[in-house]
Amino acid sequence: QIFSDRKNSLGLNMNIHSQADDFIAAVQQYRDKQWQGGPIVNGDVIDDAHHRVSINSPQENQRQIGSICWGDKALAEQALNSANAAHRRWRDTDVEVRAKALEKFADLMEANRDELIALCSLEAGKSLQDGIDEVREAVDFCRYYAVEARKLMGEGTTLPGPTGETNELFVEGRGTFICISPWNFPLAIFTGQVVAALVTGNCVIAKPAEQTGLIAFRAVQLLLEAGVPGDVVHFMPGSGAEVGSFLVSQENIGGVCFTGSSYTAQSINRALAARTGAIVPLIAETGGQNAMLIDSTALPEQAVTDIVASAFKSAGQRCSALRVLFVQEDIADRVIDLLKGAMAELQVGDPMLHETDVGPVIDGVAKSNLEQHVSDISQAGRLIARAPMPDYTNGGTFVAPTAIEIDSINQLVKENFGPILHVIRYSTDNLDEVIHSINATGFGLTFGIHSRNETFAEDVARRIDVGNVYINRNQVGAVVGVQPFGGRGLSGTGPKAGGPHYLTRFITEKTRSNNI
Ligand code: NAD
Ligand code: ALA
Repeated sequence: QIFSDRKNSLGLNMNIHSQADDFIAAVQQYRDKQWQGGPIVNGDVIDDAHHRVSINSPQENQRQIGSICWGDKALAEQALNSANAAHRRWRDTDVEVRAKALEKFADLMEANRDELIALCSLEAGKSLQDGIDEVREAVDFCRYYAVEARKLMGEGTTLPGPTGETNELFVEGRGTFICISPWNFPLAIFTGQVVAALVTGNCVIAKPAEQTGLIAFRAVQLLLEAGVPGDVVHFMPGSGAEVGSFLVSQENIGGVCFTGSSYTAQSINRALAARTGAIVPLIAETGGQNAMLIDSTALPEQAVTDIVASAFKSAGQRCSALRVLFVQEDIADRVIDLLKGAMAELQVGDPMLHETDVGPVIDGVAKSNLEQHVSDISQAGRLIARAPMPDYTNGGTFVAPTAIEIDSINQLVKENFGPILHVIRYSTDNLDEVIHSINATGFGLTFGIHSRNETFAEDVARRIDVGNVYINRNQVGAVVGVQPFGGRGLSGTGPKAGGPHYLTRFITEKTRSNNI
């Protein structure tokens, strides 16, 4: 089996001192670096001072770590025209060439790992472990999609037909994909979208989140170095309201691949419907109101370890993160006590330090929204615990991990994208109501359950309408090729990133019947 030798990357084990010490020292060297970036069109970096914006770190009093030029509508149009002109050539390029470029790109990201991790930390506030995982995921997407594309896109498939007639089925890229990504996985999701579109024979205009253009810029530089032609992939940093909405309203696009909030996905959906021109697919991966259920047979210590990882890792800024914990009343006091203890041990602070568990949230707006939510929901609920804040936060946008007991999931009107956990006690008598209330949120991304009763766990897991269920473990950190990731309903259109069906969303099919 020629495809079976791919393995996910090993990353780096921070528990092995010899590996960790060198790595930490290498990453620190980037602390004071000033990065510069800008749109990349036809392989050229555009440096237009009128559109230059500063990029500030969330961890240190918004200290500037560099700046980036933003694109505008005229530049986006130029990039789109160039990409469309290149499409047939790229579409008809052997899949092997495209797959090899992805593999080279993965190698280059590994070779530049320390800088990329420093950027994850300085630009997005990610902890070192999160940075390691981010690079691993980006690399794994490249290698996984390279293998999947070779399987999917090789020669056409011969189909049965009457004697004298040949029937074949081909798949090919659709055109130019507009890839729009969020700040919370500024490398992994950015990369995953772009390489999936490229390897299936599409050209790409990649628009990163406003907050994290620099790491995306470095990624595109490496992608070009890996051999993807400059007219095939273009980079267009800029505002979602201007550049993003302009791109998705264009007639001559092949599709949109979007990851971000449900609200933005809905507005892109409307923009696509309102335009004239080809009817194109929208791949949307969006937010969640993710729940975990702990029944009375669960092991409380294991459950609490997994609750803390699910709710507070990455400062709760994962779409998969646990937001609402349902605990069966017989075990609730014990779980809540252990949770208080575990939260008291959490280290909030500088994400570039090894000992830090929870870094800052992305910016001041996110911080004040989260603080406002804690203040509002505390009126209706009961505060369980807030993790200690460091004495000196250096002006960073830190939010203390917080657990609050509330009465019903209906008290939550939106996704609260940060380290805030809501806890609800339930009794076995109202389990059906609990399941109904989780499904009734309309979101369907992740769900966790802790129970030693296997039949019960599987039955509940089956009844909850989500894309990813996790039993007796945490519910974050889906691994490429192992836990294909993506949701349904308000959480997205359901393609599973890192799964065997993902690439099919980027292609179109053609049959050829030949009566020779
Ligand atoms: P966001 O929706 O604010 O922005 C995402 C991207 O959309 C950015 O690049 C932004 O510039 C762009 N954008 C904004 N308005 C636009 C418009 N009108 N037209 C086109 N583009 C537009 O999301 P965010 O705050 O960057 O990211 C956090 C959100 O992403 C959370 O809701 C989180 O749950 C979600 N998310 C989902 C997944 C998943 O796989 N399901 C993964 C990561 C993040
Ligand atoms: N894929 C990411 C996770 O599983 C969002 O946490």
